[in-house]
Amino acid sequence: MNTSDTNTVVGKPLNRVDGHLKVTGGARYAAEFPVAKLAYAVTVQSTIAKGKIAQIDTKAAEQVPGVLAVITHLNAPKASGEKGGGRKLQVLQDNIVLYSGQHIAVVVATTFEQAMYAASLVQIRYEEEKPTINMRDNLAKAYLPKGKIPGGEPPDLTHGNVNQGLANAAVRIDQTYTTPIENHNPMEPHATTAVWQGDELLLYDATQGIFSTQQKVAGVLGIEPEKVRILSYFVGGGFGCKGMAWSHVPLAAIAARQVNRPVKLVLGRTQMYGPVGFRPETIQQVSLGATRDGKLTALRHAGTSQTSTFDEFIEPVGKSVRMIYASPNISTRHHLVEIDQGTPTYMRAPGEASGSFALESAMDELAYALNIDPIELRLRNYAEVDPTKGLPWSSKSLRECYRLGAEKFGWQKRNPTPRSMRDGNYLIGWGMATATYPSYRSPASAIARIMADGTAVVLSGSQDIGTGTYTVMTQVAAEALGLPVNKVRFELGDTKMPQSPISGGSQTAASVSSAVHLAGNQARSQLLQLALADQKSPLYNSNAEDVIAQDGSFFLKNKSSASETYQAILARHGMKMIEARADAKPGEEQEKFSMHAFGAQFAEVRVEPDLGEVRVSRWVGTFGVGRILNAKTANSQLIGGIVYGIGMALMEHTVIDPNRGRVVNNDLAEYHVPVNADIPDIQVLFVDEHDPHINPLGVKGIGEIGITGTAAAIANAVYHATGKRVRDLPITLDKLL
Ligand code: MOS
Repeated sequence: MNTSDTNTVVGKPLNRVDGHLKVTGGARYAAEFPVAKLAYAVTVQSTIAKGKIAQIDTKAAEQVPGVLAVITHLNAPKASGEKGGGRKLQVLQDNIVLYSGQHIAVVVATTFEQAMYAASLVQIRYEEEKPTINMRDNLAKAYLPKGKIPGGEPPDLTHGNVNQGLANAAVRIDQTYTTPIENHNPMEPHATTAVWQGDELLLYDATQGIFSTQQKVAGVLGIEPEKVRILSYFVGGGFGCKGMAWSHVPLAAIAARQVNRPVKLVLGRTQMYGPVGFRPETIQQVSLGATRDGKLTALRHAGTSQTSTFDEFIEPVGKSVRMIYASPNISTRHHLVEIDQGTPTYMRAPGEASGSFALESAMDELAYALNIDPIELRLRNYAEVDPTKGLPWSSKSLRECYRLGAEKFGWQKRNPTPRSMRDGNYLIGWGMATATYPSYRSPASAIARIMADGTAVVLSGSQDIGTGTYTVMTQVAAEALGLPVNKVRFELGDTKMPQSPISGGSQTAASVSSAVHLAGNQARSQLLQLALADQKSPLYNSNAEDVIAQDGSFFLKNKSSASETYQAILARHGMKMIEARADAKPGEEQEKFSMHAFGAQFAEVRVEPDLGEVRVSRWVGTFGVGRILNAKTANSQLIGGIVYGIGMALMEHTVIDPNRGRVVNNDLAEYHVPVNADIPDIQVLFVDEHDPHINPLGVKGIGEIGITGTAAAIANAVYHATGKRVRDLPITLDKLL
C-alpha cells in the first residue's frame, strides 16, 4: 500500500500551522497561562563570583506588602542539585557562592512589582574570595577532561602520526584562534510556572526538553518523575540555553510549595547572563601541514575552553576537525580550565561554530600560502570517507555545494589578491568556508489516531522551539496517513505524551519524523486491514499493495470506482477511532556510516577603509542536508543560522569584569546582535540529496549547520578585502585599524 505521489505534501513550503496562533497572541508561552491565585517569584542573584554568604538579612523584604515568602539557604527545604541528570544546580542548599549571577534568594509576592521591590531590599554580606576569571591567564591549569564530547567520542583523538606529517610538510600554517563568551539571548526569557496539585507538580516551562526537565526537577526535589508533568507548547527560541533545566526551574517548584500557591518565575533579560549557560571562551591552536600541491600531510587542532569549578562542560571545538578533510595524520584534543563562572552550555552548533572559525580560517591561510584557490584546496583534500572513523558517509553532497555556491556567488570573478577589489572607497572582500554538522538521531515515540470524523490527531512529546516542529510533523503525518494537512492536528509539549528527545543537536526532525511516519503508516494500515477483511467493503479481499490512500479514502489502483472513505470504514465498525503507537530508534546504520550534513558558505563584505567598519553585503549558502521536510521553514532555519553566525563574526562578545566575574554588557543594548539593517539578502540553496541510510525519511538536521563556517567565511572575506587576518572574534573595527 502506498500513499499516492500526487498527495506528497512533505517538502512543500507550507505556512506554519501555528502561524495564526502566534501572530494573534493565541499561542501560550510558559509565562502566559492563566492560573488562579498565581504568585510571582523574583530571584536575588549573587554579585560576587566566589566566596560565602556571611549574612543575609531578609527582614525589610519580608515587610513589603504582599510578600509571601523570602527563601534563602537558611530556610529552603532540602533538595539536591546533583540529582536527575543534566547540569549541577544551585538550589539554596548552602551559603557557598560559585559564580556571579547565582540565585541566592527567591522572593515570592502576590504581584510581580511587590516581589521585585522586596528582592531589592534583601541585604547580603559576603566573605569574598579572589576568583579565577580570565582563562588566558590560567592556561597552566588546563586539563584533559574525563567526560566524552557529543557523539560519545573521547576528548583527545589521534589518527596517524601528526608530528611526522608536519615534519614532512612543504608548507605549514601554525596559528592560534580565539573566540569569546557569547550568550544565547532567545526572544523569550527563561520562564516557569509551577502548580502543585496535592503531591503532583505541574510545570509550564520554557524548555527544549520536557522529559529531561521532568527527570531533573524530580531528581532535585526527590520525588518520582511520574509526579511531575511538564507542559511546553510554545518556546520563543532556545539555541541551547533551554536544553537543560537550570536552577530557577526547581526553585519555582520549591517556592510554590513553600507558599502553597502557584508561582510564576521569569528571569529578566539581565538575569540570563550567568545562571543559564553561555558559549564558553575558546583558544584553538591549529597546525596544518601540506605538500606544495596542497595535499594535507597533517592536521592538528588543540582546543581549550572554560568550564565551571563544579561541573564539566566541554565545547567540542575539534569534533568536526576529525571528519572534514582527508589527511593521513589528524589529531585533536580538548582541554578545560575551571573558571569561577556558571557552567557553560550548548549554544547553536556548540563546538562546530567556534571550531569551524579556527579550521576554516587556517585553511584560507594555507590557500594563500600555497597560492591555490580556497575551493580548489578543499577539493584536493575532499574526504571520500570519514578520515578518522574510516566509515563511508551515509550521503555527502559537499562537492555539489561548492560547485553550486561558487556559480551562484560568481566566485570565478574573484581576484584573490587582498585589497584588489573595490567599490568606490569601499574595500570588497569575498570569502568562503565549509559548513558541516553531525546528523544526530535519538529514540522517539508517537501515537497516531484516525478519528471517526475523518480527521487525525498525532502526538509526540517533542518541542517546537520556533523551528517549525508543529508544521513539519503535520506534513509527515498527513502523508503517512493519506490525509490532507488540514485534516491532521499534530500535538507536542506534554510529558503525558509518548517520549521524544530534547530538541538539541538538530535532532528533532530526524528523530520525531521517524516515529510520526511509522505511527501514521501503522494507523492507516490497521484501518485498511479492517476494510480488506470486511465483506461489506468495496475493497473486500483486495491486496493491500493495490490500494492507494489519498485525501482520507482508499482507492483500488486500477479500478478507481472501488473506493471507501476512512469515515465509512470506522462508522461501519462502530469505532470512534483507530490508534497506533510507534517507537522509532536508530539502528545498526549508526555503526556502518558516518552521518553529517554539509554545506558551503560564501560571503561578501564591504569594509570602510578609514573606519574599519565591516558590513556583510551578500551571502550565498548551499547545503546538502538530506530530505527537506518544508522548503519554507528549512530556508528560515538556514537563514537564522547564518544570521547567528554574522553576529558571532562581527558583534557578539560577553564582556566579563575580571575582578568579580560580572557580565558588563548584560542586556541587548550592550550585547550586540544583528538587526535587520545588518543583514543582507541571504540566498540559501539546497542541493538535491537522497540519503537511503540515515532514517526512514532521509532527513538531516538543519537547525545548526547554518552557523558553521559563517564566521570563517566573513574573516576570510575581511582578509581578502583588507589584507588583515583577524584571528580573534568578534571582528570589530578596532582590530582592523
Ligand atoms: Mo542546540 S545548541 O543543541 O540547542
